[in-house]
This record gives sequence, structure tokens and C-alpha cells, in this order.
Amino acid sequence: MAVTGVILVGFVIGHLVGNLQIFDHPDKINGYAQFLHQTGPLLWVARIGLLVSVILHVWSATVLTIENRKARGVTPTGKHWIKASLASRYIRWTGYVVLAFIIYHLLHFTLGVTNPADFKDGHSYVMREAYSVAGFPVVAAGTEVDNVYLMVYRGFESAPVAIFYIIAVGLLSFHLLHGMDSLFQTIGWRSQTWAGRLRKVVALICLLYFLGNFAIPGAILTGALKPHPDAQVHAPVSAQN
Ligand code: HEM
Repeated sequence: MAVTGVILVGFVIGHLVGNLQIFDHPDKINGYAQFLHQTGPLLWVARIGLLVSVILHVWSATVLTIENRKARGVTPTGKHWIKASLASRYIRWTGYVVLAFIIYHLLHFTLGVTNPADFKDGHSYVMREAYSVAGFPVVAAGTEVDNVYLMVYRGFESAPVAIFYIIAVGLLSFHLLHGMDSLFQTIGWRSQTWAGRLRKVVALICLLYFLGNFAIPGAILTGALKPHPDAQVHAPVSAQN
């Protein structure tokens, strides 16, 4: 549970940092996505690693729940909480919503099933400047790449989609609150003296994580983030007809 949790937390934080490039020139997020796709086999190793981590995480959560119930003699409907935080009580339910969100998210941004008209593959973008990682240019200026900026922008102009994302990342942040606390318990850092301080640090990380994720759909939906002129964000398909 703890090992897969660390891998998944590392991914979601890294993913957020990459996604925040939407607030910069479209070269950034488009160059970043192109760079990831260029890594080819490495990207597949990471994808398989993530998938295996999710499966093992759900599997160990299920085993732990069954063992806890047996140990306490609690029926699936019996609520015998004495002193449990809200995040820990609902960890399973927030987990289910996050799983459902991941499936929707893959259909939305990775496969384009939910939004074929705005899917990145259908809209090319020419890089104005090179995209660099640690000072090394990894995507050259003039390269034709997928328009991930446009896909994300168009996706969050839809209120139901943006609101669903905000709710899902809110529940994910709540899930992380208990998950990261338990992680420190597992590795033995949650001593009497440290428990309170660690909880504050975890709560701050989860709050920042939520705000970062909230900012993207929130800014697009409210119009606080205007589409960059270089991104060629077209009018909604409905408005074109
Ligand atoms: C506002 C929030 C988010 C935005 C804007 C966002 C954006 C994106 C985009 C644009 C892609 C496709 C990248 C590409 O193929 O070029 C993607 C893929 C993905 N995202 Fe997110 N994401 C968000 C939140 C999340 C969260 C919270 C999770 C996990 C719980 C997540 C998990 C994934 C996964 C697993 C992929 C597939 C990566 C792959 O191609 O293998 N995302 N996301």
C-alpha cells in the first residue's frame, strides 16, 4: 500500500507541475507533451508501472479492509468509529470516485473518445520556440506537434466537465490527506511528538495540490485565463455551424 502510494503521489504531483504550464505560452505544455511522447518505450514503461501500481493499490486496500473487518468483527454496514478523521472514514469512497475519474480522464485527454472534435491529434501546432528540459532543447522550434493546449482549453470551457474535474481533484486531495498520513505511520515517522506536525505538513501539501488542480479548470471556466493568441483556440464547434 505504502510503496504504490508513494509512486502514485509522485505521479500526481509531477503531472500537476507539468499541467501548470498551461498558464504559460502554448509552446510549453505542447512541447512538454511532445517530449513525453518522444520518449517512446520509456513512456510505455511508465504507463505500465502506473497501471500496475493502481491495481496493486486497490488490491492491497481491499485485503486490508477485509482483514480489519475480521479483526474488529465489524459487519460491512456496521459503523464502529471511535476516533477516526473524516478523510480516513471515507477513504474507500473517495478512492472509488478517483478511479472513476481516471477512467473518464483517459477517455477525455488520452484517447479523445469524449471530445473527438477537440482531441489533440486532430489539431497540429507548430512550435514557435524550442522546448528545453534542464537547459537541453528536446523539441525544436518549427516542429509540428499535437495541440494539447487547445484540447485542455476547449475541455474546460464546458461547465459540467470543469466542475466534475474540480470535485474529483477535491476528493483526490482528501484521499491523499489520509493516505499520506497513513504512509508516515507505516514508515514509523508518526511518533507522539511528530504526528501533529506531520499532519500539518500533509494538510498543506494536499491544500496546495488541490489549489493547483483547481486553478486550471477554474481559470478556464471563469475566463480568468484567456486563450493565448498563438494557440489557435477555435470557436466551439456548435458556434461554427
Ligand atoms: C486539472 C487537472 C488535470 C489536467 C489539466 C490533466 C491533463 C492531462 C492531459 C492533457 C493528459 C494527456 C497528455 C497527452 O497525452 O499528451 C493527461 C493524461 C493523464 N492524466 Fe491528467 N490531468 C489532470 C489531472 C489528473 C489527475 C488528478 C490524475 C490522476 C489521478 C491524472 C492522471 C492522468 C493519467 C494517468 C494520464 C495518462 C498519461 C499517459 O498518457 O499515459 N490527471 N492529463
